[in-house]
This record gives sequence, structure tokens and C-alpha cells, in this order.
Amino acid sequence: MDLGLKGKRALAMGASKGLGRSIADAIAAEGAVVTVSGREQASLDKVAAELKAAGAAAAYGIPADVARGEDMDRLADQAVAKMGGVDILVLNHGGPPPCTASEMTEADLQKWFQHIVLSPIRITMRLMPAMRAQKWGRVIVVGSSGMQHPIPTLALSNTLRASIWAWLKTLSGEVAADGVTMNVLAPGSILTDRITQTATARAAKAGVSVEEELARAGREAPAGRIGLPKEYGPMGAFLAGETGSFITGSMIRVDGGRVRSML
Ligand SMILES: NC(=O)c1ccc[n+]([C@@H]2O[C@H](COP(=O)([O-])OP(=O)(O)OC[C@H]3O[C@@H](n4cnc5c(N)ncnc54)[C@H](OP(=O)(O)O)[C@@H]3O)[C@@H](O)[C@H]2O)c1
Repeated sequence: MDLGLKGKRALAMGASKGLGRSIADAIAAEGAVVTVSGREQASLDKVAAELKAAGAAAAYGIPADVARGEDMDRLADQAVAKMGGVDILVLNHGGPPPCTASEMTEADLQKWFQHIVLSPIRITMRLMPAMRAQKWGRVIVVGSSGMQHPIPTLALSNTLRASIWAWLKTLSGEVAADGVTMNVLAPGSILTDRITQTATARAAKAGVSVEEELARAGREAPAGRIGLPKEYGPMGAFLAGETGSFITGSMIRVDGGRVRSML
């Protein structure tokens, strides 16, 4: 299937590894121009070279820290300068630390509000006028199954992702008639560095091996296992392509059936 991504210009944030990288990989393989972002130039340069080798029409790496709002303006402007515009924006960042709702502090909330809500909104609003003017655009938020089924130990994530989801849903209704779609791609447990790190901490606490802990976590989903990045990214490419033109304001789950809700 031709996803219609040849020559489209994508900016993928949090794409030095993990889920953001998996979307960048899938979009690059379709012949798009891709800029990846994260915090380190060296790792981004390496990813850009790999994307180019895997089929990207061109690939660039631009460092930016979502903890700093002003970095978002610079990232948007530099991506436009490198690629001539941004048609596809993937909003992603590192995940917040685990905590229960009772443990969550105001300082934690303020810090992670910048990462999860303010910075993604700031960069989107800088790029949105051009997407609307050209009557074509795609915004994809890397979300979490906790946006539909709050995860007891991830209170910061649950709380703040509810906000970005409500914002996306609201804005998607304002821009849909201009050919701009906005969706959340919500992962269950997908094997990335983050999942390995959190499983390592839980395994040490429980006195089991990391493999045993990953297998246990996998059994939380009907699929009975943890997913792989290559099972997540292609759905991002589908949403980003012409194939996604009538899908907007939606949350698409890639979770092995983990969320049991019918909605
Ligand atoms: N994997 C899962 O199963 C899963 C499930 C639910 C939700 N999620 C969420 O999905 C997102 C991605 O998860 P992941 O598993 O792919 O994590 P990951 O492997 O740790 O990758 C995180 C990415 O974000 C970048 N990043 C981290 N902090 C940043 C910052 N301050 N500014 C800019 N970029 C930053 C990292 O790049 P650098 O370190 O190079 O800067 C990296 O590219 C997270 O928000 C996570 O909570 C993941």
C-alpha cells in the first residue's frame, strides 16, 4: 500500500530511540523527509544517517529539550529551515517518573506540565498556521493506555496526559476542515529503554529476573506479551499518510488489548 508519504516533511520529537524512533523509522521507509529531535546532537546524527540509509528522502537531527519552552520555537524554526516546512509533527518526550496520586507533588506537576502539555502545545501552535494555510497537516501525540485506563503507579502521566488529550480533541475540531488531522497513538507496554528500566526496578524489588518481570507485565494484556516498537511505528505512518486523511480527534490503541474499555 502506498501511504502517500513520499516527499512529505516530518518532524518527530523524542525520536532518538523508543516509540518516537519507531514512528520516524516507519515514515522514513516510505520516502519522507524526516527531522528527528531529542537532547543530544550525536545520537540524532546517528539516527538521521540510519533513516537516510533506510529510505528517507533526507534526514536531519536537531537537538531540543522539552523542559525549555523556548527550545520549541527554535526547533520548529530550524526544522522549517532545513526541510522547507513541516507537514507532519510527532509530539513525544520521555515519560515522567512513577508515583501514586497521593505522592504527587506540586513541583512534580509543574515540571512535567512543561514536558507533557506546554511544550507540545507551543510547538504545535507555531507550526499549525502553515499546515492550515497549505490545507494539509498531521499531528500525532505519543500517548499512553493510561489516558483511557489510569495506571495506579503513573499518576503524573495519567493526570497530565488527560490535559493534552483534551487539548488535542478540542483543536482537532478547529482545524479538520483545513485538512489537518490530530490523533493520539496510545501504546500499551512496548519494549523500549523506558520499559526495560522500569521493569529492572520492579524486578529488583520483587527479587525476580528482568525477563520474568517483563513476562509478567506482558500477561497484563490479552496478547500475553510486551509489544515491539516495530508493531507501533507503522500505525504512526498510516496516520501520517494520505491513508489517515479522515481519521482525526481519535485515540488509536496499540496495546495488545490491554485497555478493556469499549470506547
Ligand atoms: N514504551 C511504552 O510501553 C510506553 C507505554 C506508555 C507510554 N509511553 C510513553 O511514551 C513516551 C516515549 O516512551 P519510550 O518508551 O519510547 O521512552 P524512551 O525509550 O525513554 O525514549 C524517550 C525519547 O524521548 C527523548 N527525551 C527524553 N527526555 C527529553 C527531553 N527532556 N527533551 C527532549 N527529548 C527528550 C529521548 O531522547 P534523549 O534521551 O536522547 O533526549 C528519547 O528519544 C514516554 O512519554 C512514555 O511515558 C511509553
